[in-house]
Amino acid sequence: MKIAVCAEADNKEPRVAATPETVKKMKALGAEVLVEPGAGMSSGILDADYEAVGAVITRDPQREADIVLKVRRPNEMELTSYKKGAIVIAIMDPYGNEAALQLLARAGVIAFAMELMPRITRAQSMDVLSSQANLAGYRAVIDGAAEYGRALPMMMTAAGTVPATKVFVMGAGVAGLQAIATARRLGAIVTATDVRPAAKEQVESLGAKFIAVMDDEFKQAETAGGYAKEMSKEYQAKQAELVAEHLKKQDMVITTALIPGRPAPKLLSAEMVRSMKPGSVIVDLAAERGGNCELTVPGEVADADGVKIVAYTNVPGRLAASASALYAKNLYTFLEVLIDKKTQAINLNWDDEIVKATALTRDGAIVHPSFAPKTAA
Ligand code: NAI
Repeated sequence: MKIAVCAEADNKEPRVAATPETVKKMKALGAEVLVEPGAGMSSGILDADYEAVGAVITRDPQREADIVLKVRRPNEMELTSYKKGAIVIAIMDPYGNEAALQLLARAGVIAFAMELMPRITRAQSMDVLSSQANLAGYRAVIDGAAEYGRALPMMMTAAGTVPATKVFVMGAGVAGLQAIATARRLGAIVTATDVRPAAKEQVESLGAKFIAVMDDEFKQAETAGGYAKEMSKEYQAKQAELVAEHLKKQDMVITTALIPGRPAPKLLSAEMVRSMKPGSVIVDLAAERGGNCELTVPGEVADADGVKIVAYTNVPGRLAASASALYAKNLYTFLEVLIDKKTQAINLNWDDEIVKATALTRDGAIVHPSFAPKTAA
């Protein structure tokens, strides 16, 4: 059983899918681990570090691999070198990318999308959305603080008092909660909002104040999977009104709101941004999915009449070493589901809910119910 750890084709992706720690564990599962030269470089891992734990450094390791580990979905060119029937595990970004999924199917690979991991207790350690969002939430505060021209904590000095920064976090999921905790640790006064009622208690337990329209729709706004639903136009209008008033008093806003499979909800209009004080900072963590702010320019730090809008893409990649360490661990735990420890061979149990929920393609077809082409009646 050969496992390949490939370098990323996208040069804006600094993360890597395995670390020396997980290579060691994969070896213990009976795998031969082949690593592409330089694969870990941007995450601070040298080829020699992989070699020291028994990996073989080789060009095009995917050519002979039974399992290929990647961060991003392989492109058409890369797929030409994969073995038919090989298992490919990555963050596949499947929503709205049906053509790319067809390419995976046509290449004859068994593709698993890590972001489709079900939110069940057994799969918690394989949840890449959580591991990466956690780091992104932390980094959002650091990036915001770096752009902000004032200190975050209240400082009483002989030369006068610097007031504490007011931080408002919109979307209190994994990223948002970490942003709240980080901003609090830096001494900011933090408020937060979300459309899921469960978020209220979590926000409050971190010492922040919860702000939301708590009507009947709000009370039912969570799916069984723990995700947000798209809210009605009426709710969005009420929420926008509440937020608009609150925003005028904020110094930093961190937006993290997402709805699986849909564009990010627009929470900040141009008018709301203009109502903020010059020097304020907005950090839009949803930039990659269209952004929560109307004035977001994905990948850039924009300036709207003195309000900075920080919209980096691939924020976990801005902490590549930490992000890779957690991502690699997520992948390794998933491998434990796919590999039989006793026989030390691949053993796919298609009835396992983790396997079913994450498998995108198999035997030349897209098999995931959310993405398979609908057959004509
Ligand atoms: P996400 O990344 O899909 O969305 C981020 C946040 O944005 C969510 O909290 C969502 O409710 C919020 N949001 C969506 N639309 C909004 C709007 N219009 N206004 C304000 N906020 C809006 O969600 P994430 O962070 O991946 O997790 C969602 C929940 O799932 C969290 O409660 C988390 O604790 C839970 N979870 C459970 C796990 C498990 O049981 N294994 C693992 C990870 C997370």
